[in-house]
Amino acid sequence: MDNTLRNLVIRRPNPSDARGVYELIRDSQTLDLNSAYAYLVLCDYFRETCVIVEVGSRVVGFLSAFRSPLRPDTLFVWQVAVAGSHRKQGISKRMLTYLLTKTAGPPITYLEATISRSNLASTRLFTGLAKAHDVPIEVTTGYQTELFPMEIQHEEEPLYRIGPFTPQP
Ligand SMILES: CC(C)(COP(=O)(O)OP(=O)(O)OC[C@H]1O[C@@H](n2cnc3c(N)ncnc32)[C@H](O)[C@@H]1OP(=O)(O)O)[C@@H](O)C(=O)NCCC(=O)NCCS
Repeated sequence: MDNTLRNLVIRRPNPSDARGVYELIRDSQTLDLNSAYAYLVLCDYFRETCVIVEVGSRVVGFLSAFRSPLRPDTLFVWQVAVAGSHRKQGISKRMLTYLLTKTAGPPITYLEATISRSNLASTRLFTGLAKAHDVPIEVTTGYQTELFPMEIQHEEEPLYRIGPFTPQP
């Protein structure tokens, strides 16, 4: 393990992380930037299903997720971002593993996420997770382009449903 990875801290977020998260997402250049308030709420009310990775006091990774209100065994992963300086070092994989192994409450049986076809890194992240756990992936329509406001011209986002995962002891 190199020095960069040794200095990583993986933990739940708190409201004081929201500024760093906002900047991380803004600088990712590919993700939709939500409001600063949305990141505050995620880092506060949804902290049990979100993950922060920091080096020193700098946020270099963030994963937001929440349990489906109707199917609490299903976690919807909303945004995953790693700072450009720290990509391709397995940080996203570690955030997903943290989520699957350290989340309190009912066991997580399925993960869901929407992934645009052009996002190779994200596709490989989630297909790699399914492969590592030897579980299937079901891909369905998800959110089609016409569901987004006209002026945004958002790529369609097929829905990946991954599982069933074996409950972690
Ligand atoms: C997608 C993203 C979060 C991946 O983070 P990461 O920490 O670099 O990913 P990891 O190092 O854990 O790698 C996960 C897998 O993706 C692959 N991968 C990572 N970056 C890649 C790239 N640019 N191109 C192709 N594959 C890539 C890795 O090889 C690995 O696959 P493997 O298990 O088959 O070896 C990061 O690239 C990012 O922040 N992108 C901008 C934001 C974004 O698009 N988020 C996803 C949508 S919510």
